[in-house]
Amino acid sequence: MKIGIIVYSQTGNTDAAAQKLKEKLEVAGHSAHIEKVTTVGEVKPGAKDIQLDSIPEVESYDGLVFAAPVHAFSLPPAMTAYLQQLPSLDERKVAIFVTKMLPFKWTGGNRTIAHMEKLCQEKGGALCGSAIINCAKGKRDQNIAEAVERLSKLF
Ligand SMILES: Cc1cc2nc3c(=O)[nH]c(=O)nc-3n(C[C@H](O)[C@H](O)[C@H](O)COP(=O)(O)O)c2cc1C
Repeated sequence: MKIGIIVYSQTGNTDAAAQKLKEKLEVAGHSAHIEKVTTVGEVKPGAKDIQLDSIPEVESYDGLVFAAPVHAFSLPPAMTAYLQQLPSLDERKVAIFVTKMLPFKWTGGNRTIAHMEKLCQEKGGALCGSAIINCAKGKRDQNIAEAVERLSKLF
């Protein structure tokens, strides 16, 4: 399967997880490609006037993974803007993951996943799974490895 991993990342954690997932998917026989969502200038949580710079196209992929950090308990505005402008996902398989830092369940992971799922469902994506990856110091690599193991088996 040709899989696109579409990533928004500011400080590298989500990128690092995407890279590991790409490697796992390739070992499993898929062709996997990372594409980055970027903005013009810095975007603060809650910003409304988002200007996307790089807007990855999804048409050529059979399956998709969308990935973003949790910002202020929420999906960062740049990824919201990106997902809202997507064309139809045509029942293609979609997995989602978020990275975060705070330890408690109420600190945005579930809420951000739910928001991404809603946006992907509105575009007709067939959701197949999700992961919340805590990237706190000392736990990051282990948590990424566990999530990637699980996500890679969804396709
Ligand atoms: C502006 C900002 C807001 C954040 N808000 C949260 C939050 O609400 N909950 C949380 O668990 N982590 C929060 N974090 C931590 C990030 O989600 C975490 O470091 C994430 O892995 C960063 O991903 P990146 O390195 O791909 O940008 C926040 C980080 C920033 C910079």
